[in-house]
Amino acid sequence: MQDLLQKIESYKNEIEAFNSTDNKEVEEFRIKWLGTKGLVKATMGEMKNVPNEQKREAGQILNEFKQFAETHYEALKTASDGSEQQATDIDLTLPGDETPLGSRHPISLMRNQIISIFQRLGFAVAEGPEIEDDWHNFTALNMPTHHPARDMQDTFYVEAGQNAAVDWLLRTHTSNTQIRVMEKGKLPIRVICPGRVYRNETISARSHCFFHQVEGLYIDENVSFADLKQTLYFFVREMYGQDVRVRFRPSYFPFTEPSAEMDVSCFICGGKGCNICKKTGWVEILGCGMVHPNVLQNAGINPDKYSGFAFGMGVERPAMLKYGINDIRLFSENDVRFLKQFTSAT
Ligand code: DAH
Repeated sequence: MQDLLQKIESYKNEIEAFNSTDNKEVEEFRIKWLGTKGLVKATMGEMKNVPNEQKREAGQILNEFKQFAETHYEALKTASDGSEQQATDIDLTLPGDETPLGSRHPISLMRNQIISIFQRLGFAVAEGPEIEDDWHNFTALNMPTHHPARDMQDTFYVEAGQNAAVDWLLRTHTSNTQIRVMEKGKLPIRVICPGRVYRNETISARSHCFFHQVEGLYIDENVSFADLKQTLYFFVREMYGQDVRVRFRPSYFPFTEPSAEMDVSCFICGGKGCNICKKTGWVEILGCGMVHPNVLQNAGINPDKYSGFAFGMGVERPAMLKYGINDIRLFSENDVRFLKQFTSAT
């Protein structure tokens, strides 16, 4: 009996020390201890050697030993099943979770397209401030105080404190950047200036109080109106196709002389007349002209030696035409259902 008790004690220690979550090892443990030829059964068999008066006590001890082995086995089994479960939960053949791609804003797409065409002609990109002083937005552009042309652009003025020496405003056009580039004094100049502009206009489907423009400026010796035309011809063909027709109409801007507006044959109806071109067959896309000598002088460039051309175009309208957008407010409402339609657009 004493021998039996000692044996059970050491078996228990051995069982307790066994720990594994490996299915195969746990199964080996079961065969070794709880199998039909296992040690638990063999130990139970030793009952027959126990003297009758101790059988009751020995039976209890043996039963308890058997339970001990079974409980330990159950615990091992649960742990190893769990680990197996975990491994099989992951189906490596399933496609991964989709990470939604962000998309470029349609205004950025259109602006980048315009810029890249002029970059191929050697134009560099220049940017100017959106909060601007009166000089760069108006006066230097040949629009002194009280010039009637200022009324063409309803201006947001910025409260700048009582003793401010100059009037501050939100730029009404990207032409301010012309002056800023010229003031740097590095000639010749060939720049394209994209940016946001602001005007105090009632917000509707067709107009907004902020929108985007791209300005162009070319200054060198002997620049002529023919250079202006060739540059813009190249641009519209790249932008709207080789078959597009172009016409210049005389116009007025204080900062250019002569001034013109450029129309292209309607790229929706091909010139036949539709709602987009108001049945005229033409769509106005930009203003342009030869830089006024006063403007060159205001920016410190000698107008007797240098001449140049400038142009300015809106970004919203061509983007609306290209992507079939009928309300300018959609551009600034940040509705993801609108924006995500341009994920694969160029
Ligand atoms: N600044 C003008 C506007 O906002 C557009 C413009 C016209 C820019 C003629 C120019 C230009 O550089 O030469 O309406």
